[in-house]
Amino acid sequence: MRKKIVAGNWKMNTTVAEGVALAKAVAAKSAEVPANVGLIVAPPFTHLVSVAEALKGSKVELSAQNCADKAKGAYTGEVAADMLVSAGCQWTILGHSERRQYYGETDAKLVDKVRLALDNGLGVILCVGEMLEERKAGRHFAVVTEQTENVLFHFSAEDMAKIVIAYEPVWAIGTGETATAEQAEEIHACIRKVLEGKFGKEVADNTTILYGGSCKPSNAKELFAQPDIDGGLIGGASLKADDFIEIGKSF
Ligand code: 13P
Repeated sequence: MRKKIVAGNWKMNTTVAEGVALAKAVAAKSAEVPANVGLIVAPPFTHLVSVAEALKGSKVELSAQNCADKAKGAYTGEVAADMLVSAGCQWTILGHSERRQYYGETDAKLVDKVRLALDNGLGVILCVGEMLEERKAGRHFAVVTEQTENVLFHFSAEDMAKIVIAYEPVWAIGTGETATAEQAEEIHACIRKVLEGKFGKEVADNTTILYGGSCKPSNAKELFAQPDIDGGLIGGASLKADDFIEIGKSF
């Protein structure tokens, strides 16, 4: 059966000291979260080594928020997948809408990034999601299907065992406006169908699909009760250890 996961994307928040304190607080309470629910935190690059240390001995795994589309060399300001592994990461988020919107991340670049992450042994949390105008135009299924196909159809069924998908409707990120459980469920089911068409039912059934976008303790239970929603990618609410842990207990 596919794994349930709650992952915290800290985005560009916290100093190193604040991040270590947050990681320690999450680690200390992580045993309250059921054993079958995975917990992941994704701090900024600068925090990774110290946060890895703070998480030691707990079930909480470490993710980066991005990685380079090149293996190494003269790419000033970039961080490569093997560097993330050497810093203690098990995961990287890729294709977050903020990277697509503000930093020109394309599906083509994402194929290279996912490949490098997998080749280096990282698990990938690949984000997809439509903008408000796309939903208003009734294009949300098409957009999410395209994003999923454009990246994941370059990979194999075996690769899919290391890939988690996060559906994050852009209009629900940081706005306080969550997708309803029905809106989220129908997109998750659509993504699973797309995976089934390419990789078969077993891979589709085994792929974890997270919801992200103003997910918090008050709405997590209803979202996670949906048959195709396997957890959450949490922004704002992951910056408070108690809220993050509460969400982890919402299955
Ligand atoms: P919020 O939970 O702050 O809406 O952010 C969601 C998100 O973008 C997680 O990656």
